[in-house]
Amino acid sequence: VSFAYDVIASDFDFHRALPSRVPEAIRTAILASINTLSPRLLDLGAGTGRIGRSFVTADDDYVGVDLSLGMLQEFKRTHGQLNSSPRLVQTDGEHLPFCNATFDAVMLVQIFGGLRGWRRVVAEARRVLRPAGALIVGHTVHPADGVDAQMKQRLASLLGQMGIRPERLNARDDALRLLESEAHTNACSVAAMWNAERTARGFIDRHWTGAGFSVLPEPVKEEARHKLGAWAAATFGSLDAVFLEQYRFEVQVFKFQ
Ligand SMILES: C[S@@+](CC[C@H](N)C(=O)[O-])C[C@H]1O[C@@H](n2cnc3c(N)ncnc32)[C@H](O)[C@@H]1O
Repeated sequence: VSFAYDVIASDFDFHRALPSRVPEAIRTAILASINTLSPRLLDLGAGTGRIGRSFVTADDDYVGVDLSLGMLQEFKRTHGQLNSSPRLVQTDGEHLPFCNATFDAVMLVQIFGGLRGWRRVVAEARRVLRPAGALIVGHTVHPADGVDAQMKQRLASLLGQMGIRPERLNARDDALRLLESEAHTNACSVAAMWNAERTARGFIDRHWTGAGFSVLPEPVKEEARHKLGAWAAATFGSLDAVFLEQYRFEVQVFKFQ
């Protein structure tokens, strides 16, 4: 079965790379939130290992799972030069092949965009989590008025005018609400902050390779690219005008005991 992430796997890191110190800062924040020495960690939706790689490099007790074989192959390929090989399993997060209470922490990093069966994935994450374990939701926070946010909003309205009604693609808010209602404790922290250069062209190049967008028909993507490009050139002066913006990575830790 073809899966949108298989198609974009080789492009994923190129467009969405984090500054080199950020994955290690995220690892440090995650380990600090777990009260166990040498915790067993599950990274559900590990993808290309953008974040998981830092755990593998440090020889942590880490298992990464993902529905997309292409993303996991990319994880393995980019990690190939190092000694320890990542423990990766291709599986659907809705049906994890692990016993109850196996892990001290389950990480759900940047996986809710486009995730249809999010309730089942969250339930599975909780099932394989030990009673005293931590369920960790992580994501990058973009500036609300930044280039990407403005471009995304404009693109949504252009697609609306073209009769394309995008599905509601991000279940993160719903998942967070559910977890907040079920958790005994819940703490949010900023694992890393960094400045990133943003351009309208960068948004277009990245978005056009995104898992959700890349599956739209070519003529729709072409017309949208043309209209969005024209709007961006008028709004920002040029598609290549550079804006320095502040990004941060937030980690929300849920415990149930
Ligand atoms: C945006 S990527 C994030 C990858 C990684 N966590 C990161 O932050 O770099 C989302 C990942 O979730 C995976 N995914 C989506 N639905 C899934 C499911 N039902 N079970 C397991 N993985 C899934 C995709 O294949 C993709 O690799």
